[in-house]
Amino acid sequence: MNIPVKKWYEAVQTRYSQQKYMSKEIKEFTRKSLEKKLGELNDVYPEVRIEVFNKSIKEILPALKGKYGNFTESPAFMAFIIKDKGEHRWTKMGYIGEAAILEATALGLGTCWVGARYIEDRSDLNLNLMSGEHLVAVSPLGYSSENYSLTRHFVSKLFPHRDRKDVKELCPDGYNSDWPGWVKNAIKMGSFAPSRLNRQPWRFYYGEGKLVVDSVGEPSAYKRLECGIALLHVEIGALDGGTTGEVEFGGLGLGTFISEE
Ligand SMILES: Cc1cc2nc3c(=O)[nH]c(=O)nc-3n(C[C@H](O)[C@H](O)[C@H](O)COP(=O)(O)O)c2cc1C
Repeated sequence: MNIPVKKWYEAVQTRYSQQKYMSKEIKEFTRKSLEKKLGELNDVYPEVRIEVFNKSIKEILPALKGKYGNFTESPAFMAFIIKDKGEHRWTKMGYIGEAAILEATALGLGTCWVGARYIEDRSDLNLNLMSGEHLVAVSPLGYSSENYSLTRHFVSKLFPHRDRKDVKELCPDGYNSDWPGWVKNAIKMGSFAPSRLNRQPWRFYYGEGKLVVDSVGEPSAYKRLECGIALLHVEIGALDGGTTGEVEFGGLGLGTFISEE
């Protein structure tokens, strides 16, 4: 996948889950830019795709089982859609879905992953799902009206680790401060990934140019998705840290960034 490293690196730092939105419509240029990127992302893996609906998040929420939080109306939402067959499809959904979230963030839009099973009978919306496809998550899209976001930003400046686990805790086989700079940068970026109730189910393992992302305990579908999110953050951190390479799904964990050095 073609990663705009600086842009998404910045987006990783500034992204926060937003539940409150202004009623203001999304600017046409912004909407078109996002649609263009989504077109590219939808061509990366056949198992996953993302669609934007110009409907409020509140229209889809009643049909979602397992969501939490108090959302306001939003001018649009993104739907994360996965096929019911295909290897590593949940991890790929997290990886591609987070690319869409970071692109939206870079365009000045607020987002929030809402991962929940969709119950079609509970919705009047026509999502144009094809047979064998399932909606597994959504995100509101719009301009955030959360007036405490400045405070959160301030807090994150004071506490650079934000509300995240320490990197040492995320590396069960040990964290070595002598590791190459790209490895440490990648782990830091991985730790900033979003997850349900901020549980941070990912763990990182490094050796011989490979940075492995795996889940704590049995990898449920949504843990796989979250580790896919973390894998994209890891890749952005690695590339920003000066190495080249690519990601691979499966292998020693749920996903691996392999450096070419
Ligand atoms: C798969 C997934 C599902 C989530 N579901 C919800 C949700 O239903 N409601 C909500 O308010 N936030 C949801 N979140 C957002 C998390 O609560 C949030 O990412 C986490 O608390 C960390 O905060 P941050 O995203 O601001 O860094 C979800 C995140 C992920 C990755």
